[in-house]
Amino acid sequence: MRRYHVTTFGCQMNAHDSERIKGMLEELGLGEAPTLEEADVMVINTCTIREKAELRLAAHLGLAKALKDADPGRLLAVGGCFAEVQRGRLFEQFPQVDFAFGPGSIAGLGEWLASERNGAPSGRFGTGEERRFAAELPGRRERPFQAWVQISMGCNSVCSYCIVPTVRGKQMSRPAGEIVAEIGRLAKDGVREITLLGQNVNSYGRDLPAGERLGFAELLRACDRVDAIERIRFTSPHPKDFRSEVITAMAECEAVCEHAHLPAQSGSSRILRAMRRTYDRERFLALVAEMRSSIPDLAITTDLIVGFPGETDEDFEQTLSLVEEAQFDGAYTFVYSPRYETEAASLPDQVPEELKRERIERLIELVQTTANARNERRIGGIEQVLVEGPSRTDAALMRGRTRRNTTVVLAGKVTPGALANVRIEAATSTTLRGTQVVVT
Ligand code: 5AD
Ligand code: SF4
Repeated sequence: MRRYHVTTFGCQMNAHDSERIKGMLEELGLGEAPTLEEADVMVINTCTIREKAELRLAAHLGLAKALKDADPGRLLAVGGCFAEVQRGRLFEQFPQVDFAFGPGSIAGLGEWLASERNGAPSGRFGTGEERRFAAELPGRRERPFQAWVQISMGCNSVCSYCIVPTVRGKQMSRPAGEIVAEIGRLAKDGVREITLLGQNVNSYGRDLPAGERLGFAELLRACDRVDAIERIRFTSPHPKDFRSEVITAMAECEAVCEHAHLPAQSGSSRILRAMRRTYDRERFLALVAEMRSSIPDLAITTDLIVGFPGETDEDFEQTLSLVEEAQFDGAYTFVYSPRYETEAASLPDQVPEELKRERIERLIELVQTTANARNERRIGGIEQVLVEGPSRTDAALMRGRTRRNTTVVLAGKVTPGALANVRIEAATSTTLRGTQVVVT
């Protein structure tokens, strides 16, 4: 049997796309190879959000080239966001690539593999109407009890730093009936936790035809009605589109978890304007306050960028103080990275690398202190944990996540997929530790 290997870079949307790539290749009769070295068909699903992703990719493509040189019968396919942004240029830059495809053209890989290939490099791209939902392809889940469910693709925002609209196109929502039917099938198949995926989940539905239009709040309620789904998550919402109806739906739907990943990007209203985020610091903080007062025990995590062009010390201090005021439970922190053809890449006053480094170090330290203090407050309490597998550092312990999305390392007699009540005994900025409580 011919074997494939898929390497994935980037976000959860890419991880979900990779599950569909694997499912499609298995339908074509290929088996999975545990490493790139052992694969006849090597697939790399790429990301281009920051320059770092591309540097890692270049190293990987180097390895794939060496493997192909040793065995020219192997095939190399490159998909995802970097492929989309490069398109034809990819073949000039990396002649070892046989086939390239954008995020909206995953099915093209299957068609190419199944067809008579003539040896010339070829590609399938596109961000228009021809794009297809990866969800239409057969999938292969990493864990039987958790699933991603794609609700939309693309993004209509114009954030000045971001390449996503260029590589994933305008927003296209998936009809709600299809989404709910998929969740019903997943539930029958043993799935207990779903994560709704979209580049901007809470603008879901606005592009659907009038008769089928349904907002994100109504979609959450429809998902909540599916039996046997214990936990519903979603990522990522845009603060500008987080309407009160969604907050109410989160509070009222039992399965919807008490966690929102709410990317702030900056704490300075001046920088937020230059980023074209369309909210300011005050509106962001008002949203956080409304969410916290409506949804008891809510965890809020965020994304923050330092070193956006023109960011002064004063702007950066505003980001630091936002972390304290909003009391984030966690944050992904990024150094601004100029991206091809984005508005911000050509702005004056790019911040020197060294200053960006200094700022991110200070920011990380504050994020950790804040998150640590928030996690310490959980000590002594009992959390419901969905067990995911063994602990990565101690095989005698298990690991899972709370409804608030905090990782818990626990002692107890539990198997992956189980819901366990855990008494919390210790905390760090990212992890809780505890022991399973067994009611007798
Ligand atoms: N530079 C740095 N970080 C970026 N992000 C998006 N584009 C850039 C960029 N050009 C971050 C944002 C976004 C997360 C997925 O990546 O914080 O929310
Ligand atoms: Fe995901 Fe953006 Fe990276 Fe594409 S570029 S994989 S959408 S993070």
